[in-house]
Amino acid sequence: MTKTKTKKSLINIFLTKMKKKEEKSFGELHISVLLDELVESIGLHKNKQNIIVDCTLWMGGHARWVLKKLKKWDVFIWFDADKRNLEIVQPELEKEFAESGIELKFINDNFVNLKKRLLEEGISSMTWIYYDLGISSLHVDEADRGFSFKLDGPLDMRFDTSTGVPASHIVNSYDQSDLLKIFREYWEEPSARRIAEEIVLQRKKGMRFKTTKELSELIAKISKFPKSKTRIFQALRIETNKELEVIEQSVQDAIDMLEEWGTIFIISFHSLEDRIVKHIFKQESKDCICSELLCICKHKKKLKISTKKPILPWDDEIKSNPRSRSAKARFAIKI
Ligand SMILES: C[S@@+](CC[C@H](N)C(=O)[O-])C[C@H]1O[C@@H](n2cnc3c(N)ncnc32)[C@H](O)[C@@H]1O
Repeated sequence: MTKTKTKKSLINIFLTKMKKKEEKSFGELHISVLLDELVESIGLHKNKQNIIVDCTLWMGGHARWVLKKLKKWDVFIWFDADKRNLEIVQPELEKEFAESGIELKFINDNFVNLKKRLLEEGISSMTWIYYDLGISSLHVDEADRGFSFKLDGPLDMRFDTSTGVPASHIVNSYDQSDLLKIFREYWEEPSARRIAEEIVLQRKKGMRFKTTKELSELIAKISKFPKSKTRIFQALRIETNKELEVIEQSVQDAIDMLEEWGTIFIISFHSLEDRIVKHIFKQESKDCICSELLCICKHKKKLKISTKKPILPWDDEIKSNPRSRSAKARFAIKI
């Protein structure tokens, strides 16, 4: 597909959705989760430059509200691994905030490269950084991205299609035990063993999985529960994008780069993501992380945790946006 065609088809999905929902702008198609909680956690300088980093831009749902709080000379930096998102949202936001005097920087990269990319931009510290992890609701509407078991398309699932390997590579080459591990560990799928066995059996018969439909049909043969497809597809997505590893690396770098009293805010949708965030926050809020009687690690605390328990969406938010029901947010301040 050509670049213009790809962009056109994405816009068509938006337009169809807009018609159905009678909505007004792209930004409104994906309802941002825990928006008030995120925006209210911002502590901004009044007389000094603020440097804000949004690690997961998508269509700028959160970003638009955060930008409204900024002043002239502040810097706003966006990351998104998905080039198509930036292609659409960058011109929109540049136009919308052209008069604001805020410096906007768009970085099409994985947030695992946060430190390297910020240093290249001459930025060595930031005031505020946030992550809204996972995929956007519209990713699953694009058959050619391979995120949905409901639409037939290439079994890809990469946020950034220019790097890494597609999900089909995992299905076609991982050992049975490795497939089982990701199906079990990431999503605790009860039929994991039989699904992994069947994949390997089909491979032995010469099958090479190329499409979402092929995998979806195999899962349906083994398990009658619709949730099995959801779980297997999500587990593959996490593995394809190495989602857990990149969070760990990026959050550690972000904490190191935060300025004093700077804030880090993270919204996650999966218990393993939340566990990683909770663990890092806990470690970084302690003066010693070794278990020796006399400390030998010399670790110094860097954070004050603001959320002892995660922030959860209110019932009203879950009612109006069911996608928010699994969201959990944590934030902490650099000390
Ligand atoms: C849930 S959406 C963000 C929605 C946005 N906060 C809003 O309210 O409109 C997550 C976005 O993060 C991007 N993303 C996911 N993992 C990423 C990573 N490791 N690096 C950069 N972008 C990533 C996805 O492409 C997607 O656009």
